[in-house]
Amino acid sequence: MRQTVVILDFGAQYSQLIARRIRELGVYCEILPANTAPAALAEATAIILSGGPASIYDPGAPRCDPAIFAQGIPVLGICYGLQLLASFLGGKVEATSVAEYGKTQLRLNQRDALFKGVSSPFIAWMSHRDLVTELPSGCKVLASSENCPVASFACPERKLYAVQFHPEVTHTPQGGKILENFLFEIAGCRPTWTPKSFVEEYTARIRRQVGDRQVICALSGGVDSAVAATLVHKAIGQQLTCIFVDHGLLRKHEAEEVSETFRKRGIKLLTIDASERFLAKLADVSDPEQKRKIIGGEFIRIFEEEARKIGDIQFLVQGTLYPDVIESGNGNAATIKSHHNVGGLPPDMKLKLLEPLRELFKDEVRKVGLELGLPPQLVYRQPFPGPGLAVRIVGSITREKLAIVREADAIVREELAKSDPEGQIWQCFAVLTNTRAVGVRGDARTYDYVVAVRAVSSSDGMTADWVQVPYETLATISNRLMNEVEHVGRVVYDISSKPPGTIEWE
Ligand code: XMP
Repeated sequence: MRQTVVILDFGAQYSQLIARRIRELGVYCEILPANTAPAALAEATAIILSGGPASIYDPGAPRCDPAIFAQGIPVLGICYGLQLLASFLGGKVEATSVAEYGKTQLRLNQRDALFKGVSSPFIAWMSHRDLVTELPSGCKVLASSENCPVASFACPERKLYAVQFHPEVTHTPQGGKILENFLFEIAGCRPTWTPKSFVEEYTARIRRQVGDRQVICALSGGVDSAVAATLVHKAIGQQLTCIFVDHGLLRKHEAEEVSETFRKRGIKLLTIDASERFLAKLADVSDPEQKRKIIGGEFIRIFEEEARKIGDIQFLVQGTLYPDVIESGNGNAATIKSHHNVGGLPPDMKLKLLEPLRELFKDEVRKVGLELGLPPQLVYRQPFPGPGLAVRIVGSITREKLAIVREADAIVREELAKSDPEGQIWQCFAVLTNTRAVGVRGDARTYDYVVAVRAVSSSDGMTADWVQVPYETLATISNRLMNEVEHVGRVVYDISSKPPGTIEWE
């Protein structure tokens, strides 16, 4: 059976970060609600109690069932988790006048497996008001700071450990080592969670789930659906049919690249060129929400038409990722749930969802993609909105405008890729505004479009900041856009963050 570390979530902003750190160490972990029943944790290899914004004495502060500490499962409490553990074990936690926030120097009081290889003193990231003022009996202090005498404690006989600081953040330079010690020295974990093991486990699982039935997948050209489809194909081969609806709003060469990649791998792929149909529906539509609705609706109709032609299909592949699963409050990963109007498919199709990536974070999806042999340019592709270039053309959409923004987008991405070796850019693209400006070419007056260049950094697309692209790069981009793309009369750089802006213009 797969070893699983469970992170009980007490509302920490860092829970996902803890999960990522543990998985980076090759150990599978899941985030579950704080009040998960002890019976549901009985098989866990180890339990981590996350931090959280509350004080353990706040009314309604999240708690876990203390019975989990009597199951012999190794536990690591972090921040709020330390205080909760101390209080459950009979210690005393009190509010202090001196809160500790940020980088703090700690000293080790005694050597223990948790701090094996960690130098003393060491820097750790603290963020707390309350602290342990009385140690629970049978426990020993492992580390202290000037204002926090119990910055780490343990009851090694019961494999109960706790740290007041945050080992998961990069501001705790030796935090990775501490987590590693907890997993491998204390909890007996083995680093066996790898993209390869995931692929092996999931191909077997998909085969069991699907049997000899038929499966479809809508390919969007994005990373998630591509990896999901490739994984399912590895498991069930020709029982999978992928449908790629080309709405005519894709990036330069995108449709060809997707078709080519999948054909080469022998994946059954229907490419539907529906650009005429979409453009006809979008003619004279300038309202962004209208555009999205039309594109979404038409996409589903075409997908449905094609799916019906194939016949007896029972499963639909979806590229749902772990953050979506956590957000929807359903931490029980790896199940097939009945289709809940995903993509608006009609209920009479009775499709079950196959979501092979619902245990993975985005970076893990990329690693699995590489493991499956997908090309890096596809695996590291920037996010691209479902409605495509339609939301990057302000106002109504025409073939001419599409050609301009597609060409401009290719140049922007090409130049910014060269100037971004660190991979700071989350997304970059061109927007065709509906403003035109006067210019002069040769001796003639021109009246051409203003193109906006956008480059943002972000970790999840929820917030974003504009990237301080070097002036030389902006100069090259401007030069190329003005000279190589017809009807570009001005180039501007978008310096809006999100919020209050959004990443896309529409
Ligand atoms: P915004 O513009 O809301 O975008 O800041 C956040 C992220 O989501 C992408 N995006 C979409 N993705 N369908 C998608 O699949 C959409 O309709 C859509 N709209 C925006 C956007 O590119 C950015 O990464």
